[in-house]
Amino acid sequence: MSQILVTGGTGFIGSHTCVELLANNYEIIVVDNLSNSKEAAVDRIEKISGKNIKFYQADICDYEKMTAIFKENDISAVIHFAGLKAVGESVQKPLEYYTNNIYGTLILLRAMRENGCKRIVFSSSATVYGMNNKAPYTEDMPTSATNPYGYTKVMIEQILRDCCVSDKEMSVVALRYFNPIGAHKSGLIGEDPNGIPNNLVPYIAQVAAGKLQQLSVFGDDYDTPDGTGVRDYIHVVDLAAGHVCAIEYAEKNTGFEAVNLGTGNGSSVLEVVAAYEKACGKPINKRIAPRRSGDIATCFADASKAKKLFGWEAKSDINEMCADSWNFTKLNPNGIE
Ligand code: NAD
Ligand code: UD1
Repeated sequence: MSQILVTGGTGFIGSHTCVELLANNYEIIVVDNLSNSKEAAVDRIEKISGKNIKFYQADICDYEKMTAIFKENDISAVIHFAGLKAVGESVQKPLEYYTNNIYGTLILLRAMRENGCKRIVFSSSATVYGMNNKAPYTEDMPTSATNPYGYTKVMIEQILRDCCVSDKEMSVVALRYFNPIGAHKSGLIGEDPNGIPNNLVPYIAQVAAGKLQQLSVFGDDYDTPDGTGVRDYIHVVDLAAGHVCAIEYAEKNTGFEAVNLGTGNGSSVLEVVAAYEKACGKPINKRIAPRRSGDIATCFADASKAKKLFGWEAKSDINEMCADSWNFTKLNPNGIE
């Protein structure tokens, strides 16, 4: 069977997707520069799946290296996770974000073109729905952004659309993830952020583990049932399964498709805290804090396109997501090492 190149494959979503691809008998090649993950993730993926993978520690911005990787292997499709993803940091370091995410993608696309590889599944984000649409989000809504990270996703989607216009044999699926959380049931892989987490569930996990004192709930005066922000949390293993479906779809179809990967349901911050308390069996110390700038009240997917195109649906509920997050946190007090 031909091979799938997974960029950013040692990261949070990439590592779970590698496990799903291997379980579906795909041969995979991982490229990661380890800027936000550790090589130990490779051993863990291999341990879960009982299969070996080929790993290159390389930067997608390195054209020579990327073309060499295509020449050495028989790559039929790419799943492109590699990118920087912290919204706040992107405001501080726009040039780093535009270079890494956009220039890196252009280099990857050139290396693909050079080697006749025409299929790519791209990690986009619900962030492309911006501040002006109303949930549930459908893929045909206008896209926009409010920060450099978000702009990289909007711009890369446009670049990929343009590639499909210029080459009718190209096949692109841009997967718009909602809020991925949770971890593999084995507890061997999960989310392992550097420094103090920005996102809700990794932050709660560290409060539960006693590493952080208190969760700040960013606003309780939103127009939502309990006043706190509502998001569409999706189990990372469900998300990973969506990538296998997207690859299968890309093998049979050409052109550009944007597809939401979400559950279609929203949970509030306080609901997530309650689910986590149930999972870890202790109270999460919290206080109500001011709203975080750039946040919206409610964000959740219309997930019907993924069901129609791929036959894919998320399976796990918020309790299972929190239980798996806590299992990973307990088993890996120092992260993946
Ligand atoms: P992650 O940081 O865990 O994984 C990204 C991986 O890419 C890391 O292992 C990092 O070392 C690698 N990487 C970064 N720049 C690279 C480069 N130039 N060359 C090679 N490797 C590079 O993040 P994640 O949560 O797994 O996210 C994966 C993708 O999904 C990202 O593109 C992210 O923007 C997107 N996304 C994530 C979320 C989320 O909540 N986690 C939501 C929407 C979209
Ligand atoms: C954030 C990013 C989004 C990105 C996504 C995945 C912002 C504004 N948005 O989404 O672009 O695609 O992460 O990386 O950064 N919350 C708290 N306390 C906390 C942390 C979060 O109350 O300590 C609340 C937030 O206000 C929000 C919810 O929890 O209502 C989820 O927040 P988070 O996990 O950061 O995800 P998003 O903001 O949805």
